[in-house]
Amino acid sequence: MNVTIFGTGYVGLVQGAILADVGHHVVCVDVDADKVERLKKGIIPIYEPGLESLVKENHAAGRLDFTTDAAEGVKHGEVQFIAVGTPPDEDGSADLKYVLAVAETIAQHMESHRIVVDKSTVPVGTADKVRAKMMEVLASRGREDLGFDVVSNPEFLKEGSAVADCQKPDRIIIGTESEDTEEAMRELYAPFNRNRNKIMVMDVRSAELTKYAANCMLATKISFMNEIANLAERLGADVELVRQGIGSDPRIGYHFIYPGVGYGGSCFPKDVQALIRTAGDIDYDAKVLKAVEARNYEQKTTLFQKMRTHFGDDLAGKTFAIWGLSFKPNTDDMREAPSRVLMEALWEAGAKVQAYDPEAMEEAQRIYGTRDELTLCGTKEAALKGADALVIVTEWQSFRAPDFDLIKQKLSEPTIFDGRNMFEPKRMAKKGFTYYSVGRSTQGR
Ligand code: UDX
Repeated sequence: MNVTIFGTGYVGLVQGAILADVGHHVVCVDVDADKVERLKKGIIPIYEPGLESLVKENHAAGRLDFTTDAAEGVKHGEVQFIAVGTPPDEDGSADLKYVLAVAETIAQHMESHRIVVDKSTVPVGTADKVRAKMMEVLASRGREDLGFDVVSNPEFLKEGSAVADCQKPDRIIIGTESEDTEEAMRELYAPFNRNRNKIMVMDVRSAELTKYAANCMLATKISFMNEIANLAERLGADVELVRQGIGSDPRIGYHFIYPGVGYGGSCFPKDVQALIRTAGDIDYDAKVLKAVEARNYEQKTTLFQKMRTHFGDDLAGKTFAIWGLSFKPNTDDMREAPSRVLMEALWEAGAKVQAYDPEAMEEAQRIYGTRDELTLCGTKEAALKGADALVIVTEWQSFRAPDFDLIKQKLSEPTIFDGRNMFEPKRMAKKGFTYYSVGRSTQGR
């Protein structure tokens, strides 16, 4: 099938690449001419395992192309994906200006029937707004005769495993009430729907809400677990044992109950806020979601609080080694990353940071530029030199078995603040470290 995708961010680019890879003919449209030129050369703007080769191969094979020419894009695809950003407004609601601008563009240039697919995470009711915008533009062109349908088809990919998630989705949600559209979407996704039926067809609003409900449920699990961790710490229990104890109940499960420094990234914080906002718009007080959000906001300060308890309120003149800047491993994304909240609090308190991350160094440089209080180090060992403590913020694989003797040697004091519970408190004590983790009282067994 011929497919057009507006927006070459995480969602759009990965979607374009995997659809082209199964044989569809895909054109990706983006307003950023530089980005489009780089993509044509196989230069990928994000770090995502497997994506570069997929883009290069399918571009070379002539199944995946990139353009800034929106008219060409509208002409190409019978299916038109909207995969542009929906950044939060000042009040937390999703800003739909990019989504609606694409809807307008499609309506301006279309000459025959189009299926318009909302792939971006958009509030319930967005498909109606897209439809209204398109009808308005078609009316102004005097082309109300042109048929179209607006579908909600939310994306559930995780950063760091985006390609694999899209190639092997848990479910494919299709929100449409039209049989023809359903059939076209089934054909589009048939290559990904072979082993078992993953396609769920529902009304548009339910599809839109499914995406928010999924992310909010996961965020709730994390905030809940962080609350239990904070309680465990104060009650003399070990949250790691509690986690395994409750995870063994299949109704709860082991996934997404790891306590830590709070969730970050481009989805959870934004989507929880947006659903709170959507609820507010219809005068519903989303009490659970507000608590999830509040717990997460505070959890991001947990390492800083522990550092203050250990070193005293005055952190001026101290230097801290930070391992892990991205909001989670296997990505260079630092959006809403707990590392940022920590570093900014440390700077505010007059401390300096020596940071290392396996992938996010360029991103950190881009965000913070060159400044006295931040040294970006080439290796995790270099970050330790002369620091007053090591602080682990992201659980990268390469941090799991470090040379503890070297850490001791390089730090001015053998103290580790671990925001991801990477090590055993007892073993760390034996090695002579003062070791802080999340929700693990040293009295725990
Ligand atoms: C998430 C959803 O998983 C995905 O389905 C959706 O499409 C987009 O949002 P992503 O933002 O890539 O994906 O990250 P994810 O792997 O879900 O992690 C989100 C955050 O939760 C990270 O900051 C992570 O560190 C944190 N987390 C996750 C925990 O603190 N504890 C856990 O047990 C799991």
